[in-house]
Amino acid sequence: MSKVLVTSALPYINGVPHLGHMVGCLLPSDVYARFMRMMGNEVLYIVGTDEHGTTSEVGALKAGMDVQAYCDMNHERHYRTYKDFELSFDYFGRTSSEQNKEMTYHIFEQLDKNGYIEERAVKQVYSVDDKMFLADRYITGTCPYCGYDKARGDQCENCTKVLEPAELIDARSTISGSKNLEIRESKHLFLNLPKIENKLREWLKTKEAFWPEVAYSIALKWLKEGLQPRCITRDLKWGFPVNKPGYEDKVFYVWFDAPIGYIGITKQWSDEKPEERNWKDWWYDAKDVRHVEFMGKDNVPFHAITFPATLLGTNEPWTQVDYLKGSSYLTFEGGKFSKSEKRGIFAEDAVKEFPADYWRYWLMSNAPEASDSSFTFDLFAGTVNKDLNGVLGNFVSRVLKMTASKFGDEIPSGGEMTVLENELIAVLQKRVDDYFKYMKDMEFRKALNELRAIWVEGNNYISTAEPWNVIKENQDQAAMILRVCINLIRIFAILSAPVMPVTSEKMMEKFGLSTKDMPSLAGFDIKKEIEFLQPGHKFEVGETLFERILPERLEELKQKYGSSK
Ligand code: MF3
Ligand code: ZN
Repeated sequence: MSKVLVTSALPYINGVPHLGHMVGCLLPSDVYARFMRMMGNEVLYIVGTDEHGTTSEVGALKAGMDVQAYCDMNHERHYRTYKDFELSFDYFGRTSSEQNKEMTYHIFEQLDKNGYIEERAVKQVYSVDDKMFLADRYITGTCPYCGYDKARGDQCENCTKVLEPAELIDARSTISGSKNLEIRESKHLFLNLPKIENKLREWLKTKEAFWPEVAYSIALKWLKEGLQPRCITRDLKWGFPVNKPGYEDKVFYVWFDAPIGYIGITKQWSDEKPEERNWKDWWYDAKDVRHVEFMGKDNVPFHAITFPATLLGTNEPWTQVDYLKGSSYLTFEGGKFSKSEKRGIFAEDAVKEFPADYWRYWLMSNAPEASDSSFTFDLFAGTVNKDLNGVLGNFVSRVLKMTASKFGDEIPSGGEMTVLENELIAVLQKRVDDYFKYMKDMEFRKALNELRAIWVEGNNYISTAEPWNVIKENQDQAAMILRVCINLIRIFAILSAPVMPVTSEKMMEKFGLSTKDMPSLAGFDIKKEIEFLQPGHKFEVGETLFERILPERLEELKQKYGSSK
């Protein structure tokens, strides 16, 4: 048994999570955490909300709320949504917690003591009417290159040119629209990345063989372009006040304390039951821990460069990332999800329309791994109808109904396995081994393809074995075939558990069992498992597992969520 630390990028508290966020980091981290637990590992799975920064201040302002109250409210909302999606985190914390403040202060002090922090004067845009410094993206104006009149201070969305706020023509505050802007100079603290670069390169080299290509190449690209010192303080109110004399009126930059949040949140978890949990066992001088991080592509530089450099600069034995899974993007019908334009289905609505398992299965089978992928309601309905209803759901109800009608509510006895069953066992074992391999490698699309193929083997077997014909001549052989099929249902339940935990539980319940009765997946042996449920064991046909999505419903969904088709 080894220790696996699983983290998902911490979602911004002001955003409303949509399916893209779910599939980019939250869901794959959960599926992986569940799988690793079932493999018999000791898993700690940490998630939480990323709460600091201008976006939260602006969000609160728009909502007419105090920032703390706004974050408290949204934290609950995120928590609920992820629970509804069946995320099995051990703790869902907050980057604004006392524990994270303590961690952030400690790490900053070490960096400062070791000479990796430097002071610099910075010129920034100050909005007199908003009474605040404006982050580049909160300044709007006309692009000097293409004339687009809603260009942001950091980039023109129209021609994609990277801009400096001072270049904008007719610059105004995005928050209030005020043009009463001034350039003010103030002192800020910078993390001297160039000074840590050598250590970072050495550390990265040890990861080359293990990280997926996407993540490693992004890290290399950053190194090639040359590391610059990065500003880690901001002139804002909402954040951790900087613990250095002369900087008390500034706060740490959100990207400084957010990843430290993984540690801070673990300490929140540990503080709840200090006698049995110790955050240090996972984060500090913890040699036997493998840390796997899940995130969208855009987050990779922070997790591959800035955060590791931050930890290296402390000269302390912090747990670093061992495997970094960066994912591409999910689009909605080929375009962007947009709350304001009412395009796309957001996570909290999704689970009101269909059980979480439908989404979990679709999203993981279509995970944007090697390239972006697109959600459409047609594809979703197709998958629910064909894979879930047609393949899995149909097999389960067909087998149980047939057995109940021919033999009653106990698993029938008699018969001997033949060549056909031995072939089935061999084929399934091969597929199961591949499924596990893909799950371990976090190749979720391939893993789910294999899972589906495993269900298909069940259907193929029953069609070939034809128990409905066999029963006419040989009761016992028909009993054996149905017994094999019933055991397949339990096997499917076990194998599907990381992806569809609720459905899996429902399947187990048909035999008076629960997910708690599942064997470890390590050394999962089909030959043994196919005889696990013995003759005489009671079962219940119960409800069907899934509901089909009919054409009218599909139309309704498209209307409601702004599908273009
Ligand atoms: N909030 C960021 C985003 O949603 C991710 C932060 S990851 C963290 O893009 F580790 F820094 F918290
Ligand atoms: Zn432009």
